[in-house]
Amino acid sequence: MLIGQLNLVPVMKGVVFTEFLDLVDQEFGEVTVDQIVEESDLPSHCVYTAVGTYDYSELDYLLSSLANKSGISKPALLMRYGEHLFGRFTTLYPAFLSDASDVFSFLERVETQIHVEVLKLYPDAELPTFESERLSPQCFKMTYRSQRPLQDLCEGLIRGAMKHFDEEFVISRQDQSSQNETQFVFTITRV
Ligand code: HEM
Repeated sequence: MLIGQLNLVPVMKGVVFTEFLDLVDQEFGEVTVDQIVEESDLPSHCVYTAVGTYDYSELDYLLSSLANKSGISKPALLMRYGEHLFGRFTTLYPAFLSDASDVFSFLERVETQIHVEVLKLYPDAELPTFESERLSPQCFKMTYRSQRPLQDLCEGLIRGAMKHFDEEFVISRQDQSSQNETQFVFTITRV
């Protein structure tokens, strides 16, 4: 990844933006989407295509704007968005879910299979990395590393997966981030 070496701004695939505006539309209404778009002064003018690539800072701006309007904090919105996005992934990419019978075996595959396939679809995607470990039959550890501080989106995606597999868990997380990288350890325990 070039970030760090060339000081590039992290970028994200358009699907992350189109689905975010979809969530705003569904949960906060079309008027809120229009207000956010009209008030924004972004390079993209909020015109996103799923395969396009846009600055991560635009997502941060859209989140701040929605937080101001809704009174809901940015971390809470990101987590909600993660759950919503996972639901959308199940519709957009059903094949990625067909092999897994439970949430742990699904989460293990995010790094080794799913994001690998995502990179084939979107070769310029900048994906986080995960390290997974089964601590016991009931307990799973997943370490998230990224150039972006998207740990709340990550937790939302994990919660979305738990909902999808209809399993009940408790999630705890530990911040091990440094100046250069976000690193969170999620511990997921079956209840
Ligand atoms: C069907 C399942 C999944 C698909 C199709 C998928 C696909 C994607 C795509 C397209 C992106 C955007 C990459 C970019 O902007 O360049 C992304 C980012 C991301 N994915 Fe996945 N993903 C899936 C499951 C998951 C799960 C279960 C997790 C959490 C454990 C996860 C964690 C993340 C995070 C946190 C990001 C944001 C980028 C970052 O943090 O650096 N994904 N994923």
